[in-house]
Amino acid sequence: MKALILAGGSGTRLRPITHTSAKQLIPVANKPVLFYGIEQLRDAGITDLGIVVGETAPEVRAAVGDGSALGVEVTYLQQEAPLGLAHAVLIARDFLGEEDFVMLLGDNFLIGGLGEFVDDFLTSDAEVQLLLTEVAEPQFYGVAVLDAQGRVERLVEKPKDPPSNLALVGVYLFRPLIHEAVAAIKPSARGELEITDAISLLIAQGARVRSRMVTGYWKDTGRLEDMLECNRKVLETLIPRIDGTVDDASRITGRVVVEEGAVIERSTVRGPAIIGRGTHVVDSYIGPFTSVYHDCVIDRTELEHSIVLEQCTIRDVTRIEDSLIGKNVEVSRSEESPKAHRLMVGDHSRIRLG
Ligand code: TTP
Repeated sequence: MKALILAGGSGTRLRPITHTSAKQLIPVANKPVLFYGIEQLRDAGITDLGIVVGETAPEVRAAVGDGSALGVEVTYLQQEAPLGLAHAVLIARDFLGEEDFVMLLGDNFLIGGLGEFVDDFLTSDAEVQLLLTEVAEPQFYGVAVLDAQGRVERLVEKPKDPPSNLALVGVYLFRPLIHEAVAAIKPSARGELEITDAISLLIAQGARVRSRMVTGYWKDTGRLEDMLECNRKVLETLIPRIDGTVDDASRITGRVVVEEGAVIERSTVRGPAIIGRGTHVVDSYIGPFTSVYHDCVIDRTELEHSIVLEQCTIRDVTRIEDSLIGKNVEVSRSEESPKAHRLMVGDHSRIRLG
């Protein structure tokens, strides 16, 4: 069995981060979202992975490499534009060959293993197996309607008037029959080859499409709030560890990881929180549910419930909360007169001054 991980797309909901970076590489508790999925596939015994990449291909390649560090073997599949989930399957035709496969959306975050879900499918006679979860706002998802036996009767993409509250989670299991369907469908109104259309076509032809409910936690990390929620979930399970240096004037409480080479001076870190390798926290307060990635400087600053990416400098800021700060960002207080906010901010940024 193979796996196809979708790590292209346009990531409009996470702009401006996604103008320059892959959303699948945003760290959750200092590990890229994508790595969680790769590890779950590996743990389910699937190590032959195709990763579909788009504009951010160089960054994804740099992070994942040939996969050996994560115990898998990776083949990169270049998608010329984000033309839909079914289009990603279409371009993966040669890689997938005649094998059954798992398709995983690279920005989906799942806690719990995939092994049982995969075994279930392999021992069944179904051509497709979908993973579903109940959601409060089904109009934003692909939605499934089931018959009395739990078979999928109908799928609708982002319905205005949802026929159920069962949303498709970004894990799909397919037999090679899906290739005929993705080759037969036409682009939808939004110009994408929809995987829901391909599966609907199989249902219309009498194929068996079964479903399973997600038992653990699942999140599509498309938006800032989702990233912060996943980060909270993972930080809550941290095993505390101090591999860096903490001076006597600092206080570390709760679940806190201080990675190698990180330095904490005259600061308070209240967990759950993680401070990345090579990061310096000086005269600062790091509050619960905060992840600071590697090689940052946090100086005379209060930071809580936030994710800070690598190589940022944050200085003299009394309080930052509920924030996602991209790579190489500098936030500081200016002593210049007149007192004013001075910004150089990328397109589609969101700034809320307190
Ligand atoms: P989506 O989140 O549905 O789409 P998107 O990445 O374009 O984001 P947004 O809605 O914010 O604009 O995509 C789900 C996953 O599949 C995500 O990891 C990106 C990936 N993907 C591809 O690799 N190729 C594609 O053609 C599409 C549409 C998505």
